[in-house]
Amino acid sequence: MNKIISSGNLWLDQNNNHISAHGGGILYYDKVFYWYGEDNTQGYLNSVGISCYSSTDLYNWKHEGTVLKQEQMPQELQAKNMGRVERPKVIYNEKTKKFVMWMHVEQKGYALSSAGVAISDSPVGPFEFLFYDRPVLFEPKEGFDQHTNEKELGNSFRDMTLFVDDIDSDGNGSLDAYVLYSSEGNWTMYIARLNSDYTWIDLPKTSNRIRPQYTIDDLGDKWSRQFIREMREAPTPFKYKNQYYLMTSACTGWKPNLAEYAVANHPLGQFETVGNPCVDDTKETTFDSQSTFVLPIDPNNGQYIYMGDRWEPDDLGKSTYVWLPLTVDNSGEVFIEWQDEWSYENYWIN
Ligand code: GAL
Repeated sequence: MNKIISSGNLWLDQNNNHISAHGGGILYYDKVFYWYGEDNTQGYLNSVGISCYSSTDLYNWKHEGTVLKQEQMPQELQAKNMGRVERPKVIYNEKTKKFVMWMHVEQKGYALSSAGVAISDSPVGPFEFLFYDRPVLFEPKEGFDQHTNEKELGNSFRDMTLFVDDIDSDGNGSLDAYVLYSSEGNWTMYIARLNSDYTWIDLPKTSNRIRPQYTIDDLGDKWSRQFIREMREAPTPFKYKNQYYLMTSACTGWKPNLAEYAVANHPLGQFETVGNPCVDDTKETTFDSQSTFVLPIDPNNGQYIYMGDRWEPDDLGKSTYVWLPLTVDNSGEVFIEWQDEWSYENYWIN
């Protein structure tokens, strides 16, 4: 049995295939880790769908299959129509007992830029695709993004993640959860509170793409704009001692760049940028990776795993994973350190 995490190399599943779960995230449910991500084995414009792998130790992974197939999605999202899904995340809803998946659905050209939602009764699927749409319509002072038709369709939805807090602030039977995504043509990040089923944001769902145009005042405690006009993406939140942390990357496509983290005392912000968490990252490329998830190992002691993607744009299925120890010290400062090989049981011992 493998007991080592080795970043930037092939990572084989039980069938000796390289794990294909890119832009992924992890759900811990009933003592099992489920890793969901993009199945890019057939390349960029031949999206297979969302894969799932399971593990009890985070080192050895079993391929559970394609839990949402691209061919089961609406016509216009199917691979033959240049449909593609990116950065899927799955969370569990205590109230409905459903596993809820959100993803960035896209077509060639990145103009579709919408949120897709799917649900399942089991962590290993099959997931039923519910719909895709854009959560918010708001006109920033710089105007709507034209490439993504924001004025007609709502603000664009690209790199995304979900965050579940450990509180149920309104006692509705499910923990508070949020979606974080790059919007306004990637210029500004949005954070929106999810409804109690986690199937949409906590606002009336509008139909036929006719929707009210929101103002900041309408949405004050359900939605916020962060990093305004800063072009941040790859949102990766985590919580440490009642403070909310959010790692993001700059916006340079598949090429890695310098990560930054920000801190707030509420999941909706206001996030204040602190700086680059990477130690001795001489190339300033987040150790050649882009963030996708932070997994708590022992959060009370500031111990987490940083998960990033090292993209191979010419052969996306060969992209590898960069998983490194992320430590928050007593003063709340965040450090990510390179390790050629490491195990999370041993890293923080000394
Ligand atoms: C990145 C983004 C990826 C993917 C890529 C396409 O910036 O983080 O998820 O969308 O661009 O170029």
